[in-house]
Amino acid sequence: MTNAYQDDRGNKDASITKRGTPSTMSPGTATGERSHTQDAFLIGDSMTGGYGQGPDILHDCTIAVNPGEIAVIVGPNGAGKSTGMKAVFGMLNLRKGAVRLDGEDITALSPQDRVVKGMGFVPQTSNIFGSMTVQENLEMGAFIRTDDKIVETMEQIFELFPILGDKRRQAAGELSGGQRQQVAVGRALMTKPKVLMLDEPTAGVSPIVMDELFDRIIEVSRTGIPILMVEQNARQALEIADRGYVLVQGRNAHTGTGKELLADDDVRRSFLGG
Ligand SMILES: Nc1ncnc2c1ncn2[C@@H]1O[C@H](COP(=O)(O)OP(=O)(O)OP(=O)(O)O)[C@@H](O)[C@H]1O
Ligand SMILES: [Mg+2]
Repeated sequence: MTNAYQDDRGNKDASITKRGTPSTMSPGTATGERSHTQDAFLIGDSMTGGYGQGPDILHDCTIAVNPGEIAVIVGPNGAGKSTGMKAVFGMLNLRKGAVRLDGEDITALSPQDRVVKGMGFVPQTSNIFGSMTVQENLEMGAFIRTDDKIVETMEQIFELFPILGDKRRQAAGELSGGQRQQVAVGRALMTKPKVLMLDEPTAGVSPIVMDELFDRIIEVSRTGIPILMVEQNARQALEIADRGYVLVQGRNAHTGTGKELLADDDVRRSFLGG
């Protein structure tokens, strides 16, 4: 296994890096950001909204990801990172803004219909069925598939996450935290998504397991699936991010490449511990 912090892999690998992409270092300017992301493959564009009849949690918030990219959302607890992900996945009624996938406005679609359109989403909590086996969890992931290549996809997932193959008949709830996250990601991949959204895929795992999960996520992105993920481990996540979003109180506070954000004094002081 390689060390994520030594080889600086995310930004070196041309296959997942958009070199020459104009930088958009723009504190709090959703508009400046917009011109570069308007036509992104997946975009939650200027989203404003909250839960039910409650107050707005998101305020003109924009998050987007393009093919070949890993986009990372970071920010303090309660900043609205998960809410932003849920909004993009259709679990929130937006009061303003839109969600587009591959140019199509999908703002009115249910989460189920978004899955059919090609969105894979691993939520922050309750992302596996603990009493079901690993294999059953993966099979559940394929519920929308109508083709006969489901076994093939499962084999690919066992290649990506060999431990899941070894433990395929074990109850998912008996697995370690890192292994359960692999089940959750694998389940989402079973739909053969066009884009993968992950909310804190490394929550509660050791640094070594985190590193390993990041490696797998990079591997998935290299297969051509754009990845939009929320991460608590901001520094490490920005190191592999082609695009980073710092959210504060439901707003875009900073946006740029992972490298730009890591180099920004304000971001470092406020969010990366100096
Ligand atoms: N289901 C819900 N109903 C009402 N309010 C909610 C709900 N979920 C979250 N909130 C509120 O929305 C705000 C943003 O929460 P959110 O979970 O999006 O933050 P987060 O950035 O993902 O935080 P964390 O880093 O802790 O996961 C918080 O004030 C929270 O209390
Ligand atoms: Mg969250």
